[in-house]
Amino acid sequence: MMKTFKLVIAGGGSTYTPGIVKSLLNQKDKFKLNELVLYDNNAERQEAVGVIVRHVVDLFDPDLKLTLTTDPETAMTDADFIFAQMRVGLYAMREKDEKIPLQYGVVGQETCGPGGLAYGLRTIYPMVELIDYCEKYAKPTYWIVNYSNPAAIVAKATFRLRPKARILNICDMPVAIERNMAEILGCDRHDLEVDYFGLNHFGWFTKVRLNGTDVTEQLKAYVAENGYMPKNEKSDVMHSDPSWLHTYANAKHICSAFHDYLPNTYMQYYLLGDEVVQSSDPHHTRANEVMEGREKRIFDAVADYRAGKEVDLTKFFGGVHGEFIVDVAMSLAFDLRQRHLVMVENKGAVENLPEDAMVEIPAYITDRGPEPVRVGAIPTFYKGLIEQQEAVEKLIVEAAIEHSYEKALMAFTLSKTVPSLFVAKKILDDMIEANKEYWPELH
Ligand code: NAD
Ligand code: G6P
Ligand code: MN
Repeated sequence: MMKTFKLVIAGGGSTYTPGIVKSLLNQKDKFKLNELVLYDNNAERQEAVGVIVRHVVDLFDPDLKLTLTTDPETAMTDADFIFAQMRVGLYAMREKDEKIPLQYGVVGQETCGPGGLAYGLRTIYPMVELIDYCEKYAKPTYWIVNYSNPAAIVAKATFRLRPKARILNICDMPVAIERNMAEILGCDRHDLEVDYFGLNHFGWFTKVRLNGTDVTEQLKAYVAENGYMPKNEKSDVMHSDPSWLHTYANAKHICSAFHDYLPNTYMQYYLLGDEVVQSSDPHHTRANEVMEGREKRIFDAVADYRAGKEVDLTKFFGGVHGEFIVDVAMSLAFDLRQRHLVMVENKGAVENLPEDAMVEIPAYITDRGPEPVRVGAIPTFYKGLIEQQEAVEKLIVEAAIEHSYEKALMAFTLSKTVPSLFVAKKILDDMIEANKEYWPELH
């Protein structure tokens, strides 16, 4: 008999849930679910998104049992897979993460700089709690595949606090960039294989191969001129807002200055901070764009369904985001040994970075977890950048564990996005006020 799986989506009320469910059910002939659970701590939001998910299930696997719950025991009991995508504090707090630093002329971003550190302090303990629920109720062979941001800090903190947890932290940005690379090259993204090193949202593609042929130099020349902007019309609905196009285009400034590698788009926040701040509107940030766009589209569609109107479900399906998490889960489930970029403990993979850094590198995904490749030593510029950022992430995790104001201030001060201790302190103090409900107390 075919093995079937109980799969939980933690953060069931996420804007990404319908797309992930569609990707999952696309694979139902190979990766058959016996139950799909949406789990969230916000019943109302999850009920709403659940209306869309119900229609997706009816369309693609009508006999599948769909459960919506806010009870961790009900959700996690005997679960095989837990896809985590929690946004602790919702978009209201993302808005503050972005706007507070901008008031001081500093990059205001979801996962980078002070905003990312604030989001990290909110998310560490809820993620630890999720792991504890899984340890208690899920199958002993459970896997958490985690998208919850800031994934770099989540990975570091959960590894430190729950080293035995069966959690694999992933990010869709490299695959999204690969999708653009494929459009630039006129090929399928699955025919590309990359070499890569870095931390999450802080890395570099060192080689790109198309069916085995090295196309790195060709891509570098293109990106130095155009960024990751394909010349043809992009079909994907993900990352198509003007602010994302600006981000993709910005890669050209990095690629035309430093010729070794192809940057992750997130490097703009560290290397082009002045340009990023100048092109930001401190009163209307990405959080506002998403609340007025992706989030609103979901809740408008729910209202339409509830009013008995037809909805075009396809507008929730696009994107490599759903495909990637399902690919990783299937490789874990069936020991497919597919090669994916994931976050793992360094342990010498990048020779001249700390052993305990959580690096993002290629790994073969087996049913026992990731088997990372060896990267070797990296050049001074990249090593220096990564060591600084890695120390920032380590300090913020230690601040959370030790309730240390001073370590939090060190993390904010050390971030390459922050010009001085004075500015770091002002932002941190405002962030403490804004995050009263969420952060561990700092003394
Ligand atoms: P969203 O706000 O639409 O959804 C998040 C859901 O998580 C909400 O329904 C919220 O109620 C729920 N939640 C918050 N705290 C929770 C808790 N303690 N327990 C259970 N549920 C909880 O956010 P979104 O835009 O859909 O993003 C979801 C998450 O995925 C965010 O963390 C985002 O940063 C992350 N993300 C990561 C990647 C990646 O590359 N790793 C890509 C896309 C999104
Ligand atoms: C990419 C990153 C995610 C991040 C998202 C933000 O997909 O990999 O980690 O959360 O972008 O996108 P948004 O559309 O919400 O600004
Ligand atoms: Mn990411």
